[in-house]
Amino acid sequence: MRASLNIAHRGFLCLTAFLASSSVVGNAAVQGVAAEYLLGLGIGDITGPVVETNMMGYASLAQTDTGLHLRQRSRAWIVADSANPSNRVVFINADIAMGDTGIRRSIVNALSTKYPDLYNNDNIALVSTHQHSGVGGYLENLLPQLTALGYVKETAAAIVQGTVLAVQRAHDSLAPGSLSLGNTTIVDGNINRSPSAYLANPAEERAKYQYDQDKELSLLRFDDVSGNARGFLSFFAVHGTSLYENNTLVSSDNKGMAAYLYEAMVEPNAMPGNNTFVAGFTQSNVGDTSPNTLGAFCESPGEEWDGQPCEFDHSTCGNKTEDCHGRGPGFTISDFESNRIIGQRQANGAKTLMGMALPQVTGAINYVHAYMNMSFREFTLANGSTAMTCPPAMGYSFAGGTTDGPGAFDFIQGDNTSTPQNPFWEIVKGAVTPNPPQVQIDCQAPKPILLDTGYATFPYSWSPNTVDIQMLRVGNLVMLIMPGELTTMAGRRMRDAIRTKLISEGVIGEDAYVVIAGPANTYAHYVATREEYAVQRYEGASTIFGQYTLESYMDKYGSLVGYLADGNTSQPASDPASPDLSGSAISLRTGVVFDGAGIGHNFGDVSTDVASTPYSAGQSVSAVFVGANPRNNLRLEGTFLTVDRLVNGAWTAVRSDSHPSTTYQWLRTSTILGTSTANLTWTIESGTPAGTYRFTYFGDSKSLGGTITPFVGHSGNFTVA
Ligand SMILES: *[C@@H]1O[C@H](CO)[C@@H](O)[C@H](O)[C@H]1NC(C)=O
Ligand SMILES: *[C@@H]1O[C@H](CO)[C@@H](O)[C@H](O)[C@H]1NC(C)=O
Ligand SMILES: *[C@@H]1O[C@H](CO)[C@@H](O)[C@H](O)[C@H]1NC(C)=O
Ligand SMILES: *[C@@H]1O[C@H](CO)[C@@H](O)[C@H](O)[C@H]1NC(C)=O
Ligand SMILES: *[C@@H]1O[C@H](CO)[C@@H](O)[C@H](O)[C@H]1NC(C)=O
Ligand SMILES: *[C@@H]1O[C@H](CO)[C@@H](O)[C@H](O)[C@H]1NC(C)=O
Ligand SMILES: *[C@@H]1O[C@H](CO)[C@@H](O)[C@H](O)[C@H]1NC(C)=O
Ligand SMILES: *[C@@H]1O[C@H](CO)[C@@H](O)[C@H](O)[C@H]1NC(C)=O
Ligand SMILES: *[C@@H]1O[C@H](CO)[C@@H](O)[C@H](O)[C@H]1NC(C)=O
Ligand SMILES: *[C@@H]1O[C@H](CO)[C@@H](O)[C@H](O)[C@H]1NC(C)=O
Repeated sequence: MRASLNIAHRGFLCLTAFLASSSVVGNAAVQGVAAEYLLGLGIGDITGPVVETNMMGYASLAQTDTGLHLRQRSRAWIVADSANPSNRVVFINADIAMGDTGIRRSIVNALSTKYPDLYNNDNIALVSTHQHSGVGGYLENLLPQLTALGYVKETAAAIVQGTVLAVQRAHDSLAPGSLSLGNTTIVDGNINRSPSAYLANPAEERAKYQYDQDKELSLLRFDDVSGNARGFLSFFAVHGTSLYENNTLVSSDNKGMAAYLYEAMVEPNAMPGNNTFVAGFTQSNVGDTSPNTLGAFCESPGEEWDGQPCEFDHSTCGNKTEDCHGRGPGFTISDFESNRIIGQRQANGAKTLMGMALPQVTGAINYVHAYMNMSFREFTLANGSTAMTCPPAMGYSFAGGTTDGPGAFDFIQGDNTSTPQNPFWEIVKGAVTPNPPQVQIDCQAPKPILLDTGYATFPYSWSPNTVDIQMLRVGNLVMLIMPGELTTMAGRRMRDAIRTKLISEGVIGEDAYVVIAGPANTYAHYVATREEYAVQRYEGASTIFGQYTLESYMDKYGSLVGYLADGNTSQPASDPASPDLSGSAISLRTGVVFDGAGIGHNFGDVSTDVASTPYSAGQSVSAVFVGANPRNNLRLEGTFLTVDRLVNGAWTAVRSDSHPSTTYQWLRTSTILGTSTANLTWTIESGTPAGTYRFTYFGDSKSLGGTITPFVGHSGNFTVA
């Protein structure tokens, strides 16, 4: 086995040494398990500026961040073939709203430069959790940037740096191990938010399924040679919209919460993000799913329909979309409580599977990647007719948003004109072709075109014409890495079609297991079935390449399954990659000018201290400090706060800014004086040991001359009874 390790790379020399030493210590263990794979797992902090930056997901101009709830992370899993370790795949699960061509390009460049011959454009999958409460401004294509006032390079840099670190850590942890695979049902983790569109699918097709959304969580377990779990990768479809559009604390929504809850259960004493067990909660065919499992209701104070369910076909209240809001299971408490519950339900599903003996995964590792230009792509349907996809365009219902985020993209609000307050929109509003050409109108029919984004190239491209097509194979598991958000039924058709093809072409046997992971790589909006497209709810209106978008993906992915066969090392012919737009990115966001502590104060002074009374579990304790702008230093892999406990006369940090029980809230109090406050809050968990505690605040101030200086502040002591 080691004889085939002919790659002169430092990581591999270390690995060889590791194999040699472990076979001395645990020869029986190594030989007892067919360690067919080398496995690596890692985690990295990708949190961009947590204040004064638009958030990504709801695309709401008003949603500018003011602090931190949970740090965003990238988690990475590497699976390599023990017999031929350069043959490997890298799956990245990033706590971001969607993948992006530019971010992916930077990550691939960094990794392929650092590890030539190991990581490349074809074997790295960048998958988002599709959360809606992260930091925005990192996408290259213009449409999603409108509300972020253009490109925010600090956000993009944090995502790239933390993701590369996660893969590096996974790489450094490579060790022999085994994989197993299974699924379980989570009935109360999601609902369908467009049930009227789902009903447009044929009755005989719907009759094959119990639910109008997928309830299965599939899980790939990673074990070391002794059978001890090192982590897992799971797939479950539920929108990352537990936290509402009016939340302004940066978070990782329910998938990030699920990962935190699981990792903290395994390593209760590790600070979040400093764990070795890596729990992966990946997004799947998320299109029409919602975590707001109580349903959507009207919030129209004073109207007779206040508190009633929204109108079924259009999700309206009194004919308006704005008042219709989905409610999560913790609705009577808060969206943060709903977020915790939906996270916990996914973590429980994973725990069920991790407690069972799952079927072993064996067989080849392989991958395939190609770019596909969707503009006027002709292909043959299953029935032999020719069909075509179109340059991207958004339909009218796109402006209506969804019950998870009504009236998203505020610059249109169901109107044909812009919101005048958005200066970025003012710059570019002339860019959208007012009259789409007839060929595009015909191609997109029956969708009425609101934004003909595929024709909008000024000042740079609004929507991608070219998408990433990618599949990763690990034994009998094939992961379809998809650029769009497939609806429930679109996902079922896609998985069935590819599984059938894998079996009929002899690539994998009857145990072929296919999952969808996305939105990944380049963001390509939604993928509804043709029947749902005809209904033109939000998901259909956002299916940007026309009514045959799904069939086109089925055709393309299906045509590539042969490349996943054992020993097939070739890659298919590809359309050209999208151009690099980062050079032409517009940013209207200004930097931090300076910070002032105010006369008679120092940075880190306490302005409102904790109370002197003892606290008990369930209560919140806060301290407010003379602050500075956290954009001066993102403190990646670090923290803006700790809660410290006095243990044997010494302070020990027991909470960080990434515990769900803590929040960091920042407020600019005077632009002229540069003053600001930082409010640190901890909601004391039940089971917290009695004792003496305090807050420590970590800040960085910027002088008028531009020098950035770190400082530390402490609150008074307080006791927990
Ligand atoms: C769950 O696992 C069973 C047994 O392997 C399989 O038949 C079924 O298709 C799986 N479900 C999904 C959604 O993959
Ligand atoms: C946020 O929006 C939800 C749903 O409309 C509402 O119930 C909640 O009160 C709002 N929260 C705040 C802080 O405004
Ligand atoms: C991270 O964990 C390691 C190993 O347990 C420990 O030595 C280190 O102090 C921890 N770092 C932080 C920031 O908690
Ligand atoms: C909603 O629109 C319908 C059809 O135009 C109309 O009959 C109804 O009165 C409207 N309802 C409200 C509350 O405006
Ligand atoms: C995509 O295809 C269209 C139609 O054939 C063509 O006009 C366009 O130049 C292509 N785009 C790229 C980036 O190759
Ligand atoms: C093939 O299917 C498409 C989509 O359902 C339909 O429009 C077309 O008429 C069909 N062609 C034939 C030959 O049945
Ligand atoms: C927007 O413009 C189109 C055509 O220019 C028109 O048909 C449509 O009614 C307009 N929509 C609104 C909401 O004004
Ligand atoms: C890999 O698979 C493709 C698609 O089936 C095929 O065209 C190609 O010849 C195969 N390459 C090798 C080296 O087997
Ligand atoms: C600090 O934040 C907490 C939680 O939002 C809040 O309850 C408290 O009133 C704030 N303290 C001050 C002084 O603003
Ligand atoms: C908090 O406790 C520490 C350790 O006992 C002590 O040194 C310090 O003086 C206390 N601070 C205050 C403000 O009482």
